[in-house]
Amino acid sequence: ARRAEEEYDYLFKVVLIGDSGVGKSNLLSRFTRNEFCLESKSTIGVEFATRTLQVSDPSPSHPAPPPVPSVFPEFFLLCWTFHLDQMIRFWLLVEGRIIKAQIWDTAGQERYRAITSAYYRGALGAILVYDVTKPTTYENVSRWLKELRDHADPNIVIMLIGNKTDLKQLRAVASEDAQGYAEKEGLSYIETSALEATNVEQAFQLILAEIY
Ligand code: GTP
Ligand code: MG
Repeated sequence: ARRAEEEYDYLFKVVLIGDSGVGKSNLLSRFTRNEFCLESKSTIGVEFATRTLQVSDPSPSHPAPPPVPSVFPEFFLLCWTFHLDQMIRFWLLVEGRIIKAQIWDTAGQERYRAITSAYYRGALGAILVYDVTKPTTYENVSRWLKELRDHADPNIVIMLIGNKTDLKQLRAVASEDAQGYAEKEGLSYIETSALEATNVEQAFQLILAEIY
């Protein structure tokens, strides 16, 4: 018999990519735990399966389960597990089908690139993040797109995110420019602030809805 966690109709794998420091890890922690860290450590490689928290099975030895975001109003969240900060998994019940979703956080630093290209395998969606206050991170979006086109499935759904909109005085990339670029490249576009929790849930909902 298959284990319960292997029973699903669809697997949605989504990868988070973009330059180091743009806020990928904070977007994910905001979405999954409603947490933000001002001095977060840069992501290094991957560490697997160290900690598993199941909402449906809270045991006394585990800390209280994290708050569960409403992924879709019509989606029923079956289960929610964490693998450190780098990958989160959840199961959704949609129209009678079980969807297993994985969101992978990757390291933006160049020296980890060799490891992260393996992440693209099987990914149905990619969230490409830049920092609206750092033009170089926006200029590098085309490099990330090339990398996706070289390594990922040609039908991958890509969403461009301009993060850190709370830093209004420091904005250096205009929304209209990014919006126009996204349209030209066939990407959806949204601006977020992981710090202020603006549009974060909407961004993840949007990409899951686009994949579905
Ligand atoms: P790598 O793991 O190195 O690829 O970086 P990352 O993209 O995961 O960036 P991370 O989430 O670690 O954030 C980098 C820095 O930006 C941290 O100091 C965060 O606190 C800060 N940061 C992230 N999101 C925001 C935001 O929306 N607004 C502001 N003001 N700062 C942010
Ligand atoms: Mg990170």
